[in-house]
Amino acid sequence: MLQLISPAKINLFLQILRRRVDGYHDLASLFQTISLYDHLTFSFAEQDELTCSDACLPTDSSNLIIKAVDLFRRKTGLKFGLKVHLEKHIPYEAGLGGGSSNAATTLWALNELHSRAYPLQDLMTWSAEIGSDITFFLSNGTAYCTGRGEIINSLNPLPKESLWIAKPAQGLSTPTVFKHLDLTQLSLHDPERTLIGFYNGRPLYYNDLEEPAFRIDPALHHIKQQLMEMGFHAVLMTGSGTAFYCLGSKTPYQIPGVTFYPATFIRRQPGQWYSQISI
Ligand code: C5P
Repeated sequence: MLQLISPAKINLFLQILRRRVDGYHDLASLFQTISLYDHLTFSFAEQDELTCSDACLPTDSSNLIIKAVDLFRRKTGLKFGLKVHLEKHIPYEAGLGGGSSNAATTLWALNELHSRAYPLQDLMTWSAEIGSDITFFLSNGTAYCTGRGEIINSLNPLPKESLWIAKPAQGLSTPTVFKHLDLTQLSLHDPERTLIGFYNGRPLYYNDLEEPAFRIDPALHHIKQQLMEMGFHAVLMTGSGTAFYCLGSKTPYQIPGVTFYPATFIRRQPGQWYSQISI
């Protein structure tokens, strides 16, 4: 049996560069893992079985955990059955990468259960076949991601930050937000300069997916304004939303329908998976 945590991520900035002929979008984004975790338990079994603490989550082949198990079997030719239990804490339809993190954790776990038969680079290459954000979780936890999001540049640690995740009750699906993107409204920054700014004390926080998300649900814009009034030094929607991260050590006051989670940046040590004491 193997128990692993599966962390959430935030996008410190997220810039959409263009729509591609395959329907996806090229982007440039600084991803960071945070201390908000699901818990996954893996054991070999006669047959595959996925159970989840949250009855609302599908546990069929649409779940990225099942897709990761099938991918690993397909790539390695190994035959095994796997029982997985998912203790869900990361909010979904939030832009926090919960499902992608679960898939990356499953690939890591399967390699552990097979005595690390495959190099990490193989897991990273395979992971891009089942989703754009999965590869990131196999990085060291801080990465500049380009392409669909699957091209990873692992980076040095960022200055430590305390933060709050603010999750509005309503969720948004990633394809819906991308569908509402107005390509004439994209930011015109040089993303590589933005990236450097995070390492020389001049961070710039922006997310091109905020505008379409706010157009779909204007209440989200109002929530962002309320969060900004609390005095955080940055408030930004993560990924395709609907969660916001709020940087700084302020204590938030309640907003009806919004759940707050405290967090910090975390990282993975080489050769180890994320742990609750990792930093
Ligand atoms: O790759 P993933 O399955 O996470 O993407 C979900 C959806 O988000 C895609 O079907 C696509 O509509 C959109 N997407 C995109 N460009 C990206 C990543 C995702 O358009 N770079």
